[in-house]
Amino acid sequence: MVVKAVCVINGDAKGTVFFEQEGEGCPVKVTGEVTGLAKGQHGFHVHEFGDNTNGCMSSGPHFNPYQKEHGAPTDENRHLGDLGNIIASGDGPTPVDISDCKITLLGANSIIGRTVVVHADPDDLGKGGHELSKTTGNAGARIGCGVIGIAKI
Ligand code: CU
Ligand code: ZN
Repeated sequence: MVVKAVCVINGDAKGTVFFEQEGEGCPVKVTGEVTGLAKGQHGFHVHEFGDNTNGCMSSGPHFNPYQKEHGAPTDENRHLGDLGNIIASGDGPTPVDISDCKITLLGANSIIGRTVVVHADPDDLGKGGHELSKTTGNAGARIGCGVIGIAKI
């Protein structure tokens, strides 16, 4: 059984991102593209709440059910929602192509119903030495977001 989810991102940054998982297996593949990004790296996370009543701000902090610190996707000590950066070339849409073994579309920690947020600035992956490095990666403003939903097919 393949489980699929989809997220339409809106804001200054716009895009569509697809999630796909083979049963309860890993990885979850995250693919798609985002437009409206300045050249460079942009933090890309799953935030806790699927609540956009006050725009991207009401999606809360990074999804972090195990009370870990902010980190890189490859770190053991990371928020579940820490998917690192997407990289805009400054020329055309920014591709999203991530395989991650921490997020899941199934069970109590499913990311379905939560929010993907794209940030103005690079995520320093917890290593920037900024006061926000260990919580947000100091990734700056939330310039696009969307709720992750169950996909039609
Ligand atoms: Cu974020
Ligand atoms: Zn984080």
